Amino acid sequence: MIEKVLVVVVVIGLSFDGACAQGSCRLNEYEMTCRGKNSLHELEKGKNYAEVDTLNVHQAGLDLSDDLFPNGINFSRLTLLNATNNEITRIGRRGFDKTRHVQFLYLSNNKIAHAQPDPFQSLEKLELLEMDEALDGNGEDKADMLRNFFKSKNNFIHLSKIELNKNRLDEIFPKTFCGVKRTCSEEICRVFLFQVQGLKRLELSNNRLQSFNFARSCLGELKALMLAGNLIQKIPADIWDFLPSVSSLDVSNNPLNCDCETVRLVRDDDVVFINQAETKCASPPEVEGKSIFELRKDYCSTARNPTGKSSFFQFIVLFVIAVGILFAYKKYRERLSHMSSAPVGYTNLQHEQAVEPEFV
Ligand SMILES: *[C@@H]1O[C@H](CO)[C@@H](O)[C@H](O)[C@H]1NC(C)=O
Ligand SMILES: *[C@@H]1O[C@H](CO)[C@@H](O)[C@H](O)[C@H]1NC(C)=O
Repeated sequence: MIEKVLVVVVVIGLSFDGACAQGSCRLNEYEMTCRGKNSLHELEKGKNYAEVDTLNVHQAGLDLSDDLFPNGINFSRLTLLNATNNEITRIGRRGFDKTRHVQFLYLSNNKIAHAQPDPFQSLEKLELLEMDEALDGNGEDKADMLRNFFKSKNNFIHLSKIELNKNRLDEIFPKTFCGVKRTCSEEICRVFLFQVQGLKRLELSNNRLQSFNFARSCLGELKALMLAGNLIQKIPADIWDFLPSVSSLDVSNNPLNCDCETVRLVRDDDVVFINQAETKCASPPEVEGKSIFELRKDYCSTARNPTGKSSFFQFIVLFVIAVGILFAYKKYRERLSHMSSAPVGYTNLQHEQAVEPEFV
């Protein structure tokens, strides 16, 4: 009996040890999930967590300007760090020093208001950076912080996707994403120095951006640009010059001014516009609330020049009148030439001529 109880206790103890690391961290094969304040600091020192490739850490009160793990804890194979929902206010280089192999970094739902210079410097394998609802502070501070993220010794050669939705961003400095470069052979990179950039997808939806303010040749490889729910009125006519590779664009839920230039722009190109039904005009008044993609085909031949239609009718009327006058004149001339070739004048003349000699 005692042996049985002992076996049960040992089995429970072993499975407990396998399922749970210390504190409120739980290990499930390659994935560890930690919850609660200081949960990471309760990990067992000296233990090798090198098999863990995914770490989820939430509500842990992280300060990412300091070490993420205590010394002596080895997460050398970590490729995914999910630190959403932590009320993180500060980030810095030290916070990521021990996670150099991270490729997927999730920092959404935080309150990052301070960033030390070049916080992501050691993340040379970074492919995806998600920071939705992650930034805090006034508009200019946030724009500044963003620029500093990518003004880095790290070239971010693998970084292909950045998400910055719902950050109440008023502005983004034009060269913010210029530091993100594509992998390339030395030869090709020398040719296109600082022109070939690697970012493929950029999400900036639900902010307060008023314009497309991107530097030329910074986003040369960008395929998808998400700008839904901002305050953009005007899509610049030369947009395809500075976004040459874009194949999908979302400008839905912006107060668009549907002038003819813009209408032609969205109709003409090979670009797929996402959420077309929600891509509505805010002006001019005659198309307010309509989708820019559902405007009548002839919208720009008539609406742009409201007198265009009537002047066409005027032209027709004038043309008819002119033809009438010409016809009448022709008829009149025919009759006139009949009359003038009539014998009257001639006989008169002959008569005069005939008469004259009689007087001489
Ligand atoms: C961490 O673990 C890996 C694999 O076990 C090992 O190669 C590496 O040297 C360790 N790093 C440190 C800092 O202990
Ligand atoms: C990150 O963690 C949050 C909270 O658990 C979860 O909702 C989200 O799906 C996770 N993201 C990824 C990519 O694992």
